[in-house]
Amino acid sequence: MNRRKRRIGLVGCGAIGSEIAVAIDSGRVNAELVTVYDAYRERASALAGRLKSAPAVAESIDALLLASDVDLVVEAASQQAVRDYARSILEHGKDLMVMSVGALLDDALYAELCSLLERHGVRLYLPTGAIAGIDAIRSVRHLLKEVTITTTKHPRALEDAPFFREHRVNLKGLKRAKVIYRGNAREAVRLFPANVNVAAILSIAGIGADRTMVRIVADPRARRNIHEIDARGEFGELHFSISNVPSPGNPKTSYLAILSAIECLRRACDGMVSIGT
Ligand SMILES: NC(=O)c1ccc[n+]([C@@H]2O[C@H](COP(=O)([O-])OP(=O)(O)OC[C@H]3O[C@@H](n4cnc5c(N)ncnc54)[C@H](O)[C@@H]3O)[C@@H](O)[C@H]2O)c1
Repeated sequence: MNRRKRRIGLVGCGAIGSEIAVAIDSGRVNAELVTVYDAYRERASALAGRLKSAPAVAESIDALLLASDVDLVVEAASQQAVRDYARSILEHGKDLMVMSVGALLDDALYAELCSLLERHGVRLYLPTGAIAGIDAIRSVRHLLKEVTITTTKHPRALEDAPFFREHRVNLKGLKRAKVIYRGNAREAVRLFPANVNVAAILSIAGIGADRTMVRIVADPRARRNIHEIDARGEFGELHFSISNVPSPGNPKTSYLAILSAIECLRRACDGMVSIGT
């Protein structure tokens, strides 16, 4: 028996959202993109205009939730979008896929969303994003003692971060790689919100935001976004090294994050074989 195609609403039409939309439009994801929304309406209109499926352009998140029979909303916008819209999306009985995972390190918000999942019988999808190994981290989480992620990026991909309002670092004058930040994931997502969603998903999968340690390295010679994860515990040790091509649309975002989002969505929409833990 053929299942009805899942109907997707997209929030955020930037680097990630646009590629997800194209993947649905080209049939790589077995779903229908029915509505797109962006705080900048022209971005949503421009994207909708490029797609064969010609999705509706919503004027607001409420319009997206009320006007269309969307059953899964993909957030590819910002942490603020998660804080502002996630509750309402779940309360309207829609599944939700979140890319701006950093927002979920707010424990109160995360607990509230989890309780809405049960109450409304809906699902929350958190893609692995720009890293690897979340399956293994999840499997050993009760045995984990230490987790550290070291993220190396070109200064250009870091320069807008709120961190630089509080700390003086001459990014433009850097001649070689420099560790500019050490701290835990809870603080790191506040100081580098657009760069450390990977630390957030690692925390949620593993030992939490207070115990997951983050180092940020600015490297003027970096051509890739590099994430190195080291985890230790009674199970042994895990080391993952990921060297990512930046997305052409946004140097802060790794191309792997986009591919991971598309794969997560394919899984949510196909429900056939589930590979991996
Ligand atoms: N999970 C991961 O591994 C991972 C990796 C990279 C990026 N991200 C996150 O995913 C999100 C999207 O990334 P991107 O590279 O596509 O960013 P982008 O800047 O290219 O696009 C974001 C789009 O969302 C829109 N937007 C922002 N806030 C909004 C709001 N409140 N309501 C409606 N629209 C809003 C913007 O206008 C923009 O068009 C970011 O929060 C980013 O930090 C996650």
